[in-house]
Amino acid sequence: MDETLLERLQAVEPLMWINPELGPTTAAHVPVRPDQVTEAEANWRALAPLLQQCFEELEDSGGMIASDLIEVADLAMAMGQGAGRFFVKGDHALPVAGSVKARGGVYEVLLHGLSLARQLGLIAPDAPPAALAAGKVRDRFGSCTVAVGSTGNLGLSVGIAARALGFRAVVHMSADAKPWKVERLRRHGVEVVQHQADYGTAVASARLQAEADPSIYFVDDERSELLFFGYSAAAAELSGQLVERNIPVDAENPLFLYLPCGIGGAPGGVAYGLKQVFGDHAHCFFVEPAQSPCALVQLASGLKRAVNVYDVGLTNKTEADGMAVAEVSQFVVQVMQPLLSGVYTVADDDLFRWLALAQDHAGLQLEPSAAACLGGPQMLLSTAEGQGYLAQHGLVAKTDQATHVMWATGGSLVPDEEYQSFLQKGRALRD
Ligand SMILES: Cc1ncc(COP(=O)(O)O)c(C=O)c1O
Repeated sequence: MDETLLERLQAVEPLMWINPELGPTTAAHVPVRPDQVTEAEANWRALAPLLQQCFEELEDSGGMIASDLIEVADLAMAMGQGAGRFFVKGDHALPVAGSVKARGGVYEVLLHGLSLARQLGLIAPDAPPAALAAGKVRDRFGSCTVAVGSTGNLGLSVGIAARALGFRAVVHMSADAKPWKVERLRRHGVEVVQHQADYGTAVASARLQAEADPSIYFVDDERSELLFFGYSAAAAELSGQLVERNIPVDAENPLFLYLPCGIGGAPGGVAYGLKQVFGDHAHCFFVEPAQSPCALVQLASGLKRAVNVYDVGLTNKTEADGMAVAEVSQFVVQVMQPLLSGVYTVADDDLFRWLALAQDHAGLQLEPSAAACLGGPQMLLSTAEGQGYLAQHGLVAKTDQATHVMWATGGSLVPDEEYQSFLQKGRALRD
């Protein structure tokens, strides 16, 4: 890695890094295929009647797990974000799990349930997914386990979905996991194993246990293509919402996206989907805590060997629990290396400031990880690196026609007391 970048990372200052490996979307040779995105969209449609039966809150949406696209002109002004149109993609309020993780975790658990029920002969090979709601399927699933390692939100999404189908569910949590997430899981009948270690260690231990026991299905956040493609279907949803608002995305009207990144599955899956829908007109940036920039350190070091944030002298300590990940998914960086525009980092204090601004100027309840997305436009429009990116892609004169989408990845399920303390902290830092 470049010495200057290393020094800036070690100084823990927020920075923007532009990915030199970004190329034309169609030229990207990656280990997945575009038709896996359209397949995931079709799978979600097929799962909708089952989702409607499993979750009361999905009755009105026809079983779709989808979020609003919210225009946030006031918030953008309060953050000094300048020209263009600014939106929050409201995954903080996604049904079922209150975070972007509902798009991946629920998808993988339901598809696993479907294939297991077929394999065990519990439903006919051509039965629709809604057949999983039958009592005899649920009873049989009670002797099968779904396990996952999580900093919190993936555990909520996998645990809730697994219990809804009648599975035994075990969530392995890292030391960073917030107590309210543990409590909520236990209320849903999920068994929680708390590790006094970081996220990677919790996942490794859960994977080992699952390998030794064939009754355990392990949702592997570091390697799962199912999770990745569950997230990717969000791109078509966003595309429909932009069309509804008559917002073009093309060479004259660029789309900038800011996606909070932990292990990389959620932002990677969404970004991969977006690149299939919008091609080179979608400019995807990941955002990571300044102490946990795992995707940045890996991409900036090349992909020959795994590099984690401890290797460059960082602590991986951050209030953004969903992003407290030391080493990025190697699968995700393989896919994203030719497709990602860049990564910017954030200081924890800014997360709280922006969380308070999101409440006070847009009425949005975000958790600290999600608030990270709000700093993207400023990083792009006001840093030398961001300006360089715009110049390199011929976009300097097009910022007035640009659309910025900040992907708010979680927050609506944060208990009131906890949220109020975040808010107070943010307001105190801001004033
Ligand atoms: C709120 C929130 N944002 C972003 C992320 C990052 O997702 P991923 O770990 O798939 O990169 C997480 C992960 O748990 C999260 O909980």
